[in-house]
Amino acid sequence: MLAPAQTENHEPLAHLDLEKEIVRLKRQMNAVILAHFYQESEIQDLADFVGDSLQLSQRAAAASADVIVFCGVLFMAETAKILNPRKLVLLPDLKAGCSLADGCPANHFRAFRERYPDHVAITYINCSAEVKALSDIICTSSNAEKIIRQIPPEQPIVFAPDQHLGRYLIKKTGRELRLWPGSCIVHEMFSERSLVRLKERHFQAKVLAHPECPEAVLPHADYVGSTTGILAYAQQSPATEFIVATESGILHQMEKACPEKKFISAPGEGGCSCSECPHMKLNTMEKLYLCMRDRTPEITLNEELRQRALRPILRMMEMS
Ligand code: 13P
Ligand code: SF4
Repeated sequence: MLAPAQTENHEPLAHLDLEKEIVRLKRQMNAVILAHFYQESEIQDLADFVGDSLQLSQRAAAASADVIVFCGVLFMAETAKILNPRKLVLLPDLKAGCSLADGCPANHFRAFRERYPDHVAITYINCSAEVKALSDIICTSSNAEKIIRQIPPEQPIVFAPDQHLGRYLIKKTGRELRLWPGSCIVHEMFSERSLVRLKERHFQAKVLAHPECPEAVLPHADYVGSTTGILAYAQQSPATEFIVATESGILHQMEKACPEKKFISAPGEGGCSCSECPHMKLNTMEKLYLCMRDRTPEITLNEELRQRALRPILRMMEMS
């Protein structure tokens, strides 16, 4: 095994054709590579499947390979392990977290639930396994509305941890949701003022936004939805120019699917292009290669916790 210093400066890897090596290792270890749309382009191009949080969970659950190499963030790789515990699940960088998951510690979430004992807890998949285990139903941005509509109207609901997605769902469903005050550091940065200015210069562009965006940004969007929804809208729309208010990794698939169309990342305050998720981008081709070569870092979960976290995920799958 390499000493960490050698691993970090990547010197010993300089002579390698990483792409070729990853493909070789994939065959050798019978692995499947799953990647989220926010991963860097090279990783997306190598993956067996690129998708949104729900699709990646479904693929992980159905995976028959011996090894699942998850190119995404920790809560996604944990979900894969919860759903398919006999597989070796690898994440290129274990530090790849998520501001939503990190901002909702399990002990605080437990206390939050205890304040509303008669409420059902619908929790966004962007949370830790511990928080999943304390929840009744998990959801993603692509099925949250559908799940909420299946809850009887007299049943009160707590929704965590994304307040912006929660507010969007309140508007869409007309339900009162008791919100946890979390947010995504990437989507939170999109600025209404800068977006309006950009739209003035690109008045024919359609604005596509993820529901993790702040409340002020969403009314300017022609379409609001998950990463898969955003990609599908761009493909089906006759428009040729789009302003995209989500993490910029998605532009890679949009440009591949529609090479004749133009995609512009939505701006942050002062026009900054701060639409990269620092957690997602911790995964690199080097780390992907190393995690496969060394079969680590591996996702491990206590079996009792896994079983408790599995229940609300299965409910999501049934209700999707
Ligand atoms: P979806 O890919 O499910 O739309 O979610 C985006 C996200 O927040 C990933 O962190
Ligand atoms: Fe979490 Fe936001 Fe990064 Fe998605 S983009 S992983 S919600 S911090």
